[in-house]
Amino acid sequence: MTERAPRIDFAGRWALITGGAGGLGSACARAYLAAGGNVVLADLPGDRLERVAAELRAFAAEADGELSFLGGAPGAELDAAADLPGAAAELGATADQPRAAAELGATADQPSGAAEVLASAGGRVEAIGVDLADVATCRELPHRAHAFGGRLDTLVNATGIMQTKPMAEVTADEWQRVIDINLTGVFHTVQAACGLMTEHGGSVVSIASVAARSGRPAAPAYAASKTALLSLTKSAALAYAPMVRVNAVCPGVFFTDMWRGIVEDRDREYGPGAGQRYLDEVTAKTPLKRLGKVEELADVVAFLASDLAAYITGQAVNVDGGLEMD
Ligand SMILES: NC(=O)c1ccc[n+]([C@@H]2O[C@H](COP(=O)([O-])OP(=O)(O)OC[C@H]3O[C@@H](n4cnc5c(N)ncnc54)[C@H](O)[C@@H]3O)[C@@H](O)[C@H]2O)c1
Repeated sequence: MTERAPRIDFAGRWALITGGAGGLGSACARAYLAAGGNVVLADLPGDRLERVAAELRAFAAEADGELSFLGGAPGAELDAAADLPGAAAELGATADQPRAAAELGATADQPSGAAEVLASAGGRVEAIGVDLADVATCRELPHRAHAFGGRLDTLVNATGIMQTKPMAEVTADEWQRVIDINLTGVFHTVQAACGLMTEHGGSVVSIASVAARSGRPAAPAYAASKTALLSLTKSAALAYAPMVRVNAVCPGVFFTDMWRGIVEDRDREYGPGAGQRYLDEVTAKTPLKRLGKVEELADVVAFLASDLAAYITGQAVNVDGGLEMD
């Protein structure tokens, strides 16, 4: 028997990552690719989406030479196929016929062929330009993503908007726009994706926020949308068990475009320098005394999406340097 350290392996799998051109979404895509998977990025159409997709394709091509999903030594492919690596095992494969391999045209008689197919079954990056404020678009998106590889194993919800404005001044339209994108769009995407995943299994990871854990007087719609997203995570985990696992992460502060926007909004609402002061206050309150790195969030998302988290569903993990402890 081969002893193997536990590791994340997405070989042969496909992830749909909404907000995939964003700071956290693109980091999640990179982590999925690094573990041998394929990704479909969904984000607002435009140059940014195309640029991020091109960067990720270059990353995948570079990583391809370095990755050793099935072992690097001659003959290691044969061992790996016989041992049923994570991808095949998770898909309900049997020792006679790894299902992922079988779907890819391999037979039990030709394990080395199967292993080669699995080994090369990662690194594709596709991009779909969409406005996920639209319900029909959200419902259709998982089907469009599924069409690329004929399967959908993972959904990462990393779309989100935030508006900083004192609660007393928030208009009905402003409230609704945040709820539409951060909550309603996620609901419809999750519902459609889980419908597809119930057949062969899969997992969903939604990016909520530490704002879900308490109130935000200057971002009430955002905090409400994120608290509700945790509730949706639990409901979906119950509704689609045991075939689909549904979890969430609650990031603290990761300096992406969203945070650049928060600093600008605060400067405008409360005067120059207010944004940086807010950032400094949050950092000071954070036990680990620094902002997060996007890879640190992506690693947790990858873990929750992977077989290493096979017994975890309906949970929300704070990734915030200890800012919140509940
Ligand atoms: N960065 C942080 O510190 C932090 C903290 C807590 C939670 N979050 C959450 O993480 C998620 C990702 O945020 P981020 O920090 O990467 O910000 P980001 O702004 O870099 O990424 C958000 C992405 O969502 C996309 N998006 C927005 N509206 C859309 C729409 N209508 N249709 C399609 N795509 C749309 C944007 O184009 C962008 O690429 C968000 O849900 C955010 O609330 C971030």
